[in-house]
Amino acid sequence: MKEKINTEKLPLHIAVIMDGNGRWAKKQGAMRVFGHRNAVKAVRDTTEACAELGIKYLTLYAFSTENWSRPQAEVNALMELLVSTIRSETETLMKNNVRLLAIGDIQNLPKNCQKELAEAIEITSKNTGLSLVLALSYSGRWEITEAIKQISTKVASGELSVNEITDQVISQHLTTKNIPDPELLIRTSGEMRISNFLLWQIAYTEIFICDTLWPDFRREHLYEAILAYQQRERRFGKISEQVNA
Ligand code: IPE
Ligand code: IPE
Ligand code: MG
Repeated sequence: MKEKINTEKLPLHIAVIMDGNGRWAKKQGAMRVFGHRNAVKAVRDTTEACAELGIKYLTLYAFSTENWSRPQAEVNALMELLVSTIRSETETLMKNNVRLLAIGDIQNLPKNCQKELAEAIEITSKNTGLSLVLALSYSGRWEITEAIKQISTKVASGELSVNEITDQVISQHLTTKNIPDPELLIRTSGEMRISNFLLWQIAYTEIFICDTLWPDFRREHLYEAILAYQQRERRFGKISEQVNA
């Protein structure tokens, strides 16, 4: 399938809602955490495949603001898994020239998570290939609210006037400020919703939903999503004839 991908028409940025870990575990009579542990392989394979293809940004929705409301034991297990995964995967990131970034309310993560994350971000900061963006304690509404607070503060102090607030100014106050909007959004496990992910940034993103549960997701599934994306006509409000002119 990889050969069929048009390397001239690759999305610059792919975002993924990694969903279905719990159901994957339940299907085999295991605890939900077992699904989360088996999700790491999918993260590794997807990241490597994106790096190989020459994709510039891969954003993975790993933990939402709303996920804090899950049972405490699951939240703790996810945070521990985050720490151990960052630690064990940093070497692979270096090998693949991947730069790690994080978006979300990082201050809200346990201190040891913040430390591990900051270290991996620092170690990989000079890498020039794929940027892997982890969305942690992230939600689109949280991010937009934060942006509004920052912009309002600037207006109140006179640094910015109301008429200067544009689409670009808003984008520049989001946690994704130097990252282009994703061209492709993938959600696994068949759920047809956005779950508070990148609300502003996905205004014109192509959406691909697959039934595969995240722990089973591999590069072949990614290739399938990219191929589907390459067959779409992106009109941005125009008509087909204008796009093809
Ligand atoms: C995605 O899998 C991982 C996180 C949200 C952290 P889920 O844990 O949501 O798995 P399901 O949707 O219950 O199967
Ligand atoms: C979305 O998955 C969040 C992440 C993948 C991190 P959820 O499983 O939390 O979404 P809902 O609750 O089914 O919408
Ligand atoms: Mg879920």
